[in-house]
Amino acid sequence: MSLTQLRDARSIPPAPKITIQTLLDRKCKGEPITALTAYDYPTARLVDEAGIDVILVGDSLGMAVLGYPDTLPVTVEEMLHHTRAVRRAVRSALLVIDMPYGSYHISEEEAMRHAVRFMKEGGAEAVKVEGGTNRAALVDRLTRAEIPVVGHIGLTPQSLHRMSGYRVQGRSSAAVELLRADAVALEAAGAVAIVLEGVPREVAAMITHELSIPTIGIGAGPDCDGQILVFHDLFNLTFSAGAKFVRRFGDAAELFREGIAHYRDEVAAHAFPNDAESYHLPPGVREEMQVAGELETYKA
Ligand code: KIV
Repeated sequence: MSLTQLRDARSIPPAPKITIQTLLDRKCKGEPITALTAYDYPTARLVDEAGIDVILVGDSLGMAVLGYPDTLPVTVEEMLHHTRAVRRAVRSALLVIDMPYGSYHISEEEAMRHAVRFMKEGGAEAVKVEGGTNRAALVDRLTRAEIPVVGHIGLTPQSLHRMSGYRVQGRSSAAVELLRADAVALEAAGAVAIVLEGVPREVAAMITHELSIPTIGIGAGPDCDGQILVFHDLFNLTFSAGAKFVRRFGDAAELFREGIAHYRDEVAAHAFPNDAESYHLPPGVREEMQVAGELETYKA
């Protein structure tokens, strides 16, 4: 077995493939949809093998793994690079990719070209765009080109500057009406699901009830059809205090810190690697070289 085959050998058989129809069925049956972000092969594999329904290669990768201050600098090439790695890992989950800022804002033609690349070169099964009524025409066009679209309304991180910061949206009755109109417009344009981010629980519940496509919430309370979180938020890998809606499900930062310090100390103390962790000359060669005095200057 080659090293590549060894890496790909999986003891767990794949769960049934999640499709857009699966998500619609879940909504009808009232069964929650689970979603998480992933940005690389190992985490995507863990998420997929855990049976999470939707994996989003979110543009949050800008902050989570590239060290950018927000999502705005993320490029199409960066999204593609990470999506390809995730694609190689995912067997069962529905794979959705975020269209980054600037990739769908200049013209519909350009948006189409980028979305087609995400499907063909990234292996995405749907793309996500931020915005409501202002994106309806684009959602319709992408849908007619066989590209399933997930909408994203409420706190839309790409609108950071227009919103004057990351603020909960839909807090006045006028703002609630705009959000409802956004959701209805996206559904009418053909969106297959909508992410509701940073909106009051009551508003998310109302929109979820009004739509026949699933809503997936993040900071939108428990009444959405599904929930999504950023992988690195779940495991304390963000170096910042999480938002109110983030719950930590493990502390990978602490695990890594302890492991790294232990490794450093073992190397510094000449305790790693030990003899069992080393390769050796075959006995005949070793003896031959010892007789010839060629190993004398070496510790082994
Ligand atoms: O970029 C992202 O990770 C997202 C989700 C958290 C919804 O858009």
